[in-house]
Amino acid sequence: MSGTNVKPATATDEVVVAREGAVMVLTLNRPAAKNALTAPMYERLTGALAEASADAAIRAVLIEGSGGAFSAGNDINDFVRRASAGGQGPVEVLDFLRALVTFEKPVIAAVGGVAVGIGTTLLLHCDLAYAVPEAVFSTPFVRLGLVPEAASSLLLAQRIGPARASAMLLGAESLSAQAAEAAGLVNEVVPAEALAAHARAKAAAIAAFPSQAVAASRRLMRGDLAPVLARIDEEAAIFARAMASPEAREAFAAFLGRKRG
Ligand code: COA
Repeated sequence: MSGTNVKPATATDEVVVAREGAVMVLTLNRPAAKNALTAPMYERLTGALAEASADAAIRAVLIEGSGGAFSAGNDINDFVRRASAGGQGPVEVLDFLRALVTFEKPVIAAVGGVAVGIGTTLLLHCDLAYAVPEAVFSTPFVRLGLVPEAASSLLLAQRIGPARASAMLLGAESLSAQAAEAAGLVNEVVPAEALAAHARAKAAAIAAFPSQAVAASRRLMRGDLAPVLARIDEEAAIFARAMASPEAREAFAAFLGRKRG
């Protein structure tokens, strides 16, 4: 065990951190909100990655969502709170993204349903991703008056091609699971009942290889991370300003008020 103070998981945790052999499983566990991510959830994810980094017995990390969703992205109530507080940048999100980008062990994602915003963009920092046929991937930042994050303005076009990236980032269009597989955003579409076991088996297989070879291969494949980290910061500065704009605040209110309207 490392010396970090990530507390033991309880069933009610909104991020459940579990050790399954050499794999650390991080389960986004806020199903009533489609696993939308709040500041404490980002903090917990960042802490878990630090713990996984420091523990030689952990050789891979798996990220999944509970309740038939992956993540509906950043919690929009958090956006409203931040916008009201004068558009302070999303510090916890940035800490998490930096931790994920610089994390040195393989990361596997199991996408069990909707993946919006950071639910999709975090996949750009995962090594392997598996998705159910019902999964839908979207990055509708512009619809909310926002801009891309997680270096998706750089990496999404590299990953799925500029035409598809423009449709997603400028046109707020979604990708089906099948389209995401064809585009190379996910490795494989797997039936819902098989997803958890399949992703775990893939993670365990990688974890069983010599860790130095895996780490070195991964470093070579990922190349220079400086431009990625710089883009995350560049996006974050624009994102923070956009979040406080009247357009964004209207879009947040429209989403949160839609069932009352
Ligand atoms: N922030 C806060 N709450 C969210 C949320 C988010 N990002 N996404 C979903 N929720 C909440 C909904 O408000 C709803 O709460 P309620 O039951 O109290 O009304 C609950 O989660 C279920 O969502 P719902 O919209 O009823 O489910 P759905 O299956 O019809 O649609 C989504 C799922 C994810 C497509 C839809 O909720 C959505 O578009 N969410 C916003 C996604 C987004 O814009 N994220 C930010 C990207 S930067």
